[in-house]
Order: sequence, then C-alpha cells, then structure tokens
Amino acid sequence: AVATPTLVSEILRLKNERNAVILAHNYQSKEIQEIADFVGDSLGLAYHAKETDADVIAFCGVHFMAETAKIVNPTKTVILPDANAGCSLEQSCPGPQLEAFLKANEAKNYYVIAYINCSGHVKALSDCICTSGNAVKIVNAAPLDRPILFVPDQNLGSWVMEQTGRKMDLWKGACYVHVEFTRDSIQGIKDEYPDAEVVAHPECTYAVRMLADVVCSTEKMVHYCQASQASTFIIVTESGMLHRLEREVPGKRFIPGPTGHCACADCRYMKLNTLQKLHDSLRDLTPQVTMPEDIRARAEKPILRMLELSK
Ligand code: 13P
Ligand code: SF4
Repeated sequence: AVATPTLVSEILRLKNERNAVILAHNYQSKEIQEIADFVGDSLGLAYHAKETDADVIAFCGVHFMAETAKIVNPTKTVILPDANAGCSLEQSCPGPQLEAFLKANEAKNYYVIAYINCSGHVKALSDCICTSGNAVKIVNAAPLDRPILFVPDQNLGSWVMEQTGRKMDLWKGACYVHVEFTRDSIQGIKDEYPDAEVVAHPECTYAVRMLADVVCSTEKMVHYCQASQASTFIIVTESGMLHRLEREVPGKRFIPGPTGHCACADCRYMKLNTLQKLHDSLRDLTPQVTMPEDIRARAEKPILRMLELSK
C-alpha cells in the first residue's frame, strides 16, 4: 500500500490507542521500516520483544519471528499483518520429522542448536537457539562432550563450522532466497563494481560466501558498512536491507546483489506485509499468534538460554 498521510496517521493513532509497539525486520518494505518503533535483525527483535512494556506487539516480519515474541512474552497480544508470512527454512524442518530423527538417534545424545528460523515445535525440541548474529558464540558455548545437531540451515551451519572449527551434523534445509545468489551472478556484479566490497548473509552458499569481503547478520551489515573505508557495497541478501542501509549509512552507495535470474532478491513471505494490512491488524487485533502452552513453555527455555549467552 502507498504510504498516504492518512494511512500513516491512522496507523499511529491505532498504535497509541492499543498501546502497541511496531517491530520490523530489516527485510520489510521502506514504508513499514519508516513507521516502525524498532527495525532490526532477528536477535535485536527478540530482545525488543522480550523487553517491551507495550500491550500489543505488531510484528512486521515472518511468522517464526512473531511466534518468538509470543513465546517470550505470553501475556501480550502479538499480531502479524499477514498470517501467511512463513519461511522456507521453517518449512524445511517440520517438528514431527525432527522429533522422529532425534528418537531414531537417541543414542547419540545430540545437543540440538536451532537457528531461530524454525517453528515453536522445533524450538521446543532444542537445547539452544541461535540467530545469524550470535551463531558462532552459541556454538562455541556448546558442551564439548556431546555431538551437535544444527537445524535447519545447512549453509549457516557450514559457515559456523568454518568459523569455529567445531564439527556439527547439519539438517539439510536452506533459505530459498539466499540460495538464488550464484557464484556467476556475484562475480558478474563484482566485475562491474571492482572497488565495491561484497557483504553477504551466511545463508548464502559456500560458493557465494567465498566471494564476500564479510559474511554477517543483517544488523552487523549496518555496523560493517559504517566502519568500512569503502564507499560502495554489494549487498548479498534480501533487498529490504538496502532501505535500512541507505537510512543509517548516508553518503555511501549500496548495490543489490543480483541472483541468477533477477537484479535483486525479494523474500515473498517478508513482502506479504503491507501498510494496509498493518493498519487492519491493529484495528482488528487479528491475525494473532497463538500456540499451545506446553510447547510455548518448552520453546522458551532454549530462547532464554540464547538471550543470556549472547548478552
Ligand atoms: P537476520 O537475523 O540476519 O536478520 O536474518 C534473518 C533472516 O530471515 C535471514 O533470511
Ligand atoms: Fe525465511 Fe529466507 Fe525469507 Fe529469511 S529470507 S524469512 S530465511 S525465506
């Protein structure tokens, strides 16, 4: 939806009326980022969701992020503008499948580290959660006497293995957006902008990560580009990230990393949220995120462990 002054002021009015806070992920549209109280990566959003004293959390991101907010803040009303905003990583590791795998491999006594991009059910089966911003820290803090099973992203998992030297068994999941960047598409844009630095998300494949100057979470991309001497950056992640960078790192140039078939990469789930849907969800307090209390309580423990470990 177009950010008309009326729509924006109606959202702000409803936000006050509901005592709501608007949290938005770095991949949301420019209009949503501009109206949000906080824009950040999964880790920053989890901290904010835990600490807010608002009654309603309007979560502009995807379902697992809003669900995480509900898990750590069960008494709050958590709304997601579009209930269909899922995630291919979450889909690549269904809870019942992980449960069956762990049962079949009980003898291994796995320490399960789940990337936050997963369902509440998967979180409830895990020992610790991580995000791309703290995965190295979380893996380094894992007990040395147990094998690690890392779910669901094999690309983030293999990047963490490279960084820590710790061997892990990896679930074979992937983000459908980040695997669309190819060695050729990134090499091509590097040739076009030879002075640019390449900044990539760890959900990219090994072949793409090899071409990057830095591999990091979306939040760390902001700090990296602020501190770097370079003036042009090729951003190899979802295109919403460019709005955040353009706002917070003025005077520098950001080029979206092209995929094998497109000039930039959009996550179709992240882009389901619109200003109009945000407005309607604040007005109607729906769609709301809910979950069974037993799963919520079990899923909370590994999230709190993560928040504690990554302080
Ligand atoms: P960040 O935690 O780095 O923001 O990543 C979230 C995500 O969904 C990446 O695709
Ligand atoms: Fe999930 Fe990938 Fe979209 Fe992130 S970009 S929400 S990992 S599908």
